Amino acid sequence: MTQSLYERLGGTEGITAIADTLVENHLANPVVSARYAQSDKVAVKNGAATFFIAGTGGPNVYKGKDMIATHKGMNISGDEFMAVLDDAMEALDAHNVGQTEKDEVLCILYSMRKEIMKL
Ligand code: HEM
Repeated sequence: MTQSLYERLGGTEGITAIADTLVENHLANPVVSARYAQSDKVAVKNGAATFFIAGTGGPNVYKGKDMIATHKGMNISGDEFMAVLDDAMEALDAHNVGQTEKDEVLCILYSMRKEIMKL
């Protein structure tokens, strides 16, 4: 049987490590770092990890807000959205995630653009 994306990304442990790198990439990325200047880093990492665990077929552990409520009023630009996708792909590379899984993650993230950009 085909494994879920959650399983192929290394389950809770693997996704938690990927989310950690993702948030570090955001904080080091000049296009988006200022957005997270007031953020609690541990909380953002936990939000990213649990969102991904739940969204890829793992346990339903995400306790945060939905994507529209989270990003409403931020007026996020296309450049910022692209920067976050780049950070995500680099985080997957850093954890040696395969091309098939990278393609799937990219499609999932891209599909959320209207719930995140220009709100
Ligand atoms: C597909 C792309 C994205 C996804 C899946 C996503 C997902 C999330 C999630 C799950 C949270 C945590 C919400 C919570 O815990 O209640 C969050 C918070 C946040 N996101 Fe996004 N996001 C995306 C793109 C972006 C972009 C492009 C920006 C702007 C550069 C951005 C800026 C933020 C900020 C500033 C927060 C709040 C951090 C805090 O709580 O201090 N996001 N996002």
